[in-house]
Amino acid sequence: MDILKVEHLSKTYEDGTKALENLNFSVKKGEILGFLGPNGAGKSTAISIISTLIKANTGSITYFNNTKLSTKQIKKNMGIVPQDIALYEDISA
Ligand SMILES: Nc1ncnc2c1ncn2[C@@H]1O[C@H](COP(=O)(O)OP(=O)(O)O)[C@@H](O)[C@H]1O
Ligand SMILES: [Mg+2]
Repeated sequence: MDILKVEHLSKTYEDGTKALENLNFSVKKGEILGFLGPNGAGKSTAISIISTLIKANTGSITYFNNTKLSTKQIKKNMGIVPQDIALYEDISA
C-alpha cells in the first residue's frame, strides 16, 4: 500500500523561481525513502507542500491511500523532523 503518493507536483514561487516541475514518487508502507539533491533542488519545497505548509501550483498528493482525508487528519498522522531544530535553552521541554 502506498502511504504517500505524489503526482505531477509543480511549484513556482511568486518571484518566478521554478522550484519543482512534475515531481512524481510514491512511498510504500514500511519503506524508507532517501530524498536527495543538491542545494536548491527543491527538497524543502516538496517537503513543505507534502506537510501542507505551502500550496503546489499543480499536482496531487494522496496520503495513507485515502483521497478523502482532511488537512487536519493528514497533519494528525504525520511527523516532521526538520534539518535545523530551534529550541530555547531557557525553556524546558
Ligand atoms: N520562498 C521562496 N521564494 C522564492 N524562491 C524560493 C523560496 N523558497 C525556495 N526558493 C527557491 O526554490 C528553489 C528550491 O529551493 P528549496 O526547495 O529550498 O531546495 P532544497 O531544499 O533542495 O535546497 C531554489 O532555487 C530556492 O532558491
Ligand atoms: Mg532544503
